[in-house]
Amino acid sequence: MRRSKISIIGAGNVGATTAHWCAAAELGDITLLDIPQTETMPAGKALDLMEASPIMGFDSRIVGTTEYGDTTDSDIVVITAGLPRKPGMSRDDLLKTNASIVTTVSEQVAKHSPNAFVIVVSNPLDAMVQRAQKVTGFPHPRVMGQAGVLDTARYRTFLAMELGVSVEDVQAMLMGGHGDTMVPLRTCTSVGGIPISQLLPGPRLEEIIERTRKGGGEIVGLLKTGSAFYAPAAATTQMVEAIVKDKKRLLPLAAYCDSEYQVGGYYVGVPAILGAGGVERIVELSLDEHEQVEFRKSVDAVKELVETMETLLT
Ligand code: NAI
Ligand code: 2OP
Repeated sequence: MRRSKISIIGAGNVGATTAHWCAAAELGDITLLDIPQTETMPAGKALDLMEASPIMGFDSRIVGTTEYGDTTDSDIVVITAGLPRKPGMSRDDLLKTNASIVTTVSEQVAKHSPNAFVIVVSNPLDAMVQRAQKVTGFPHPRVMGQAGVLDTARYRTFLAMELGVSVEDVQAMLMGGHGDTMVPLRTCTSVGGIPISQLLPGPRLEEIIERTRKGGGEIVGLLKTGSAFYAPAAATTQMVEAIVKDKKRLLPLAAYCDSEYQVGGYYVGVPAILGAGGVERIVELSLDEHEQVEFRKSVDAVKELVETMETLLT
């Protein structure tokens, strides 16, 4: 039986670390691709990773390349290509630049791997996944964005640190866009089955929610150069695993919602079942009044972002 072929576009911090986690978990053979200007860098990272396999004990063929031909017939393509915001660059400049990058990448993905599942990671996430679906023309269940698994992991980590419990016992769900408007669901947060409201005073929970919303910025502030990559790559790997192993995981991810939650045809973070069919089902929760207001605000922010992107691209 053929192993799954996983191609990762963008061999930078998130891309290379995703390759690392996917290889270590033996999820398939991996192709790491970057732009021609990076010359042999992807090949160097791929070989270095392969040379770790006898020590760490994983069987995975890892190649690095700048040629899309090497990604042909991928089962899963992860898009991490993109620029971080540079001094003097506006948010719109970044939006336009990354939308152009994701457009080019998506054209190549459609050409070389017409049957692939696509997981978009590049930022601004909610707009980039919308773009990737439009350009590839792939069915919506095959194109999705990674953000919620990361954001929920941050939330769970902060709660475990606060309560002095194992992260394994902290359960949470989160909705909305990947940004300050994301909506961690208080009613879906529990520790060992106990609702969080019984374990933590409301004002302290609000502080932790606020820290979660700003979690990406906190890492940027600490790193000084670049943004988070270990946790984003781990989150992406969990999504790859859910598809490759048909795990039917119930995860927060950016999925295309039309009538669902009355979003009206946009990608936004929602709970969904992820398996061999990609996004197999969006789970519709009954949100309380406060959550509904917050979610609506987040959807509006996503729509504005997508509309700005469309304007910048015309
Ligand atoms: P990085 O700068 O380390 O790597 C990006 C790589 O993309 C570079 O190697 C660059 O050469 C490559 N690239 C640029 N244009 C390309 C093209 N046309 N084709 C192929 N490769 C191309 O950045 P990092 O830290 O890996 O982040 C990547 C993206 O992921 C950024 O947009 C970042 O904001 C986003 N991100 C999203 C997260 C999420 O949860 N959705 C979390 C963390 C990062
Ligand atoms: C993060 O949340 C930069 O989106 C990235 O860390």
